Amino acid sequence: MFWVLAAVPFFLFLFSGSALSQSTPNRSIEWFPCTLDIEGTPSTCGTLAVPLDYTEQGSERLLNLSLIKVNATKEPFKGSVMFNPGGPGYPVRSILAGRSGEFFLNGTGGNFDLISFDPRCYDSSVDLQNILLLTPLSSLSSDTAVGTAWAYKRTLAETCYENRKDIGDLIGTAFVARDMMQIVDALGEDGMLRYWGFSYGSVLGATVAAMFPDRMDKVVLDGVLNLHQYYAGRDVEQLIAADESFNGFIEACVSSPETCILAREGITAQTLSTEINQLLETIKYRPLGLGSNNTNDVVEYDLTEGLIINGLRTPSTSWPALAGYFDAILKRNLTAYHEFRDTLLGGSISAAFAVDANPGIRCSDVSLRTDNLTGLLPLIEEFQNTSRFGGGILAVAQPITCAQWRFQAKERYEGDFQVQTKNPILLVGSPFDHITPLASAQNHCSIGQPSLCTYKAIREYFINGTLPDTGTQCDPDVTDFGKSSSTLSKRAAQDSEDAVLLNAALSVSQDLLQRFRLF
Ligand SMILES: *[C@@H]1O[C@H](CO)[C@@H](O)[C@H](O)[C@H]1NC(C)=O
Ligand SMILES: *[C@@H]1O[C@H](CO)[C@@H](O)[C@H](O)[C@H]1NC(C)=O
Ligand SMILES: *[C@@H]1O[C@H](CO)[C@@H](O)[C@H](O)[C@H]1NC(C)=O
Ligand SMILES: *[C@@H]1O[C@H](CO)[C@@H](O)[C@H](O)[C@H]1NC(C)=O
Ligand SMILES: *[C@@H]1O[C@H](CO)[C@@H](O)[C@H](O)[C@H]1NC(C)=O
Ligand SMILES: *[C@@H]1O[C@H](CO)[C@@H](O)[C@H](O)[C@H]1NC(C)=O
Ligand SMILES: *[C@@H]1O[C@H](CO)[C@@H](O)[C@H](O)[C@H]1NC(C)=O
Ligand SMILES: *[C@@H]1O[C@H](CO)[C@@H](O)[C@H](O)[C@H]1NC(C)=O
Ligand SMILES: *[C@@H]1O[C@H](CO)[C@@H](O)[C@H](O)[C@H]1NC(C)=O
Repeated sequence: MFWVLAAVPFFLFLFSGSALSQSTPNRSIEWFPCTLDIEGTPSTCGTLAVPLDYTEQGSERLLNLSLIKVNATKEPFKGSVMFNPGGPGYPVRSILAGRSGEFFLNGTGGNFDLISFDPRCYDSSVDLQNILLLTPLSSLSSDTAVGTAWAYKRTLAETCYENRKDIGDLIGTAFVARDMMQIVDALGEDGMLRYWGFSYGSVLGATVAAMFPDRMDKVVLDGVLNLHQYYAGRDVEQLIAADESFNGFIEACVSSPETCILAREGITAQTLSTEINQLLETIKYRPLGLGSNNTNDVVEYDLTEGLIINGLRTPSTSWPALAGYFDAILKRNLTAYHEFRDTLLGGSISAAFAVDANPGIRCSDVSLRTDNLTGLLPLIEEFQNTSRFGGGILAVAQPITCAQWRFQAKERYEGDFQVQTKNPILLVGSPFDHITPLASAQNHCSIGQPSLCTYKAIREYFINGTLPDTGTQCDPDVTDFGKSSSTLSKRAAQDSEDAVLLNAALSVSQDLLQRFRLF
């Protein structure tokens, strides 16, 4: 696998906005010591009051954004870089305050302050954990599952509507883009945005670039999603690489006998693939009970699919655990099964999905709405056809949820719009990008599989504004099965700073994986 870097001077883009208040803010960020109680990177917290509803002319109603800043460590100071790790809806402050902050500081060169902020109204989220937990994880593996998922997601949509009428239409991506420019204004630097966004963060970055093209300095879109499909609520393209990644997993395992537990003597990709497919069939139609007496458990198919699609995103950190998970089931070892399942699940339920922020932002952004499940079936089938592992799970989390959503963001994207940004934007994508220039898979942003060449290109872009040649390809520096890579050891011997950076990248990948799932 390799990374493709491309510089794009402009976007072809969908945009439609209403008349908006253009008042220049006269508000400043209030900075204070963080009380997040997270170990990792020294950081400063802040708040900035921004308009609650940008479509309300002359309104005095404000919203306090919760900010975080990681200070630059090098002179000369070159300004601030804003950062979004995806989701949508992740509590970004806790990410930067953790181990990720230092890594991204290095990743941008050390001369920039890193700034980010939690989703709008995140602090005041009504805890909908109960209703979300009551919704069974579904990969739509039986013919009754679509109806069940549809009904559960309707109850979620209704509950969110009844509980969040105050803000349900005020948290969409266009407002967040305006929030970012309010922060740029309040920082009082050069009035330009510098930004690094992953996955959904690429949608936010492209949106702010289309809305404020003259105010873009350096913008990196990493793990680019298809914008048109995102806003239409029909993002099947995020899945195009998933099944190929699974084949990649099998091949990498077979060629890494020292780290892949499934790689027995003489095994081929073909036999391993057959073995795992048979195992999946068994789990699906004749679920396995493991253990005995009071310690037992049933291996569930839907969960297994969820663990596969989630784990495929981060080869260097999750593939060994995925291999361990299959091996435990093949060996009927309950202890090992629990161990690897919990590693892949990341312990507790992720904060992002225990609240309403994720569907709240995505579903209010997208235009797809219907109360007719029959009419939605072709799209659901398209999701399923695109990936045998992620299709069902993401169909439930996205179209099945969003089609029934009761809020529509007050400002959102609809018509065609063409923009030339002041400076070129850097796209970082996967080998599968050949399908369309802006097509990529959510499971392929640069932290999924660390590559020094990619990080150096990004750093050089931020520091010097130098762009790699369009189509530049970078190889990963860590093997799919973890850090025992001979490349990494070789580099460690050659250049300890590079080795530190690669190790930090691995730990960030683990950190993000452990806390944020796709389902
Ligand atoms: C902005 O705020 C400062 C102090 O907070 C005040 O002195 C100044 O007059 C304000 N400017 C405007 C245009 O309101
Ligand atoms: C970051 O810099 C600001 C201003 O220079 C300072 O007040 C703050 O204490 C610094 N934060 C940390 C965590 O060192
Ligand atoms: C924002 O925070 C300030 C204190 O920092 C508080 O006085 C104000 O009421 C808050 N505004 C809102 C809308 O919550
Ligand atoms: C089954 O588990 C119970 C409780 O842990 C224990 O008391 C009992 O002896 C166990 N039975 C066998 C056959 O192991
Ligand atoms: C089952 O897995 C556990 C944890 O990985 C391991 O310690 C144990 O030896 C395994 N048991 C068997 C019978 O292989
Ligand atoms: C639902 O959609 C299907 C397929 O598009 C259509 O045939 C049917 O008439 C629709 N039902 C209603 C009640 O609109
Ligand atoms: C999905 O795949 C099946 C089997 O190949 C095919 O019959 C069906 O038309 C496909 N559906 C969509 C929406 O692409
Ligand atoms: C930026 O350019 C200078 C001068 O060409 C060079 O020495 C430096 O290494 C570059 N910095 C980065 C991060 O590439
Ligand atoms: C960041 O860079 C500094 C040197 O510039 C190095 O000492 C530190 O270990 C690096 N940290 C990470 C996480 O890469």
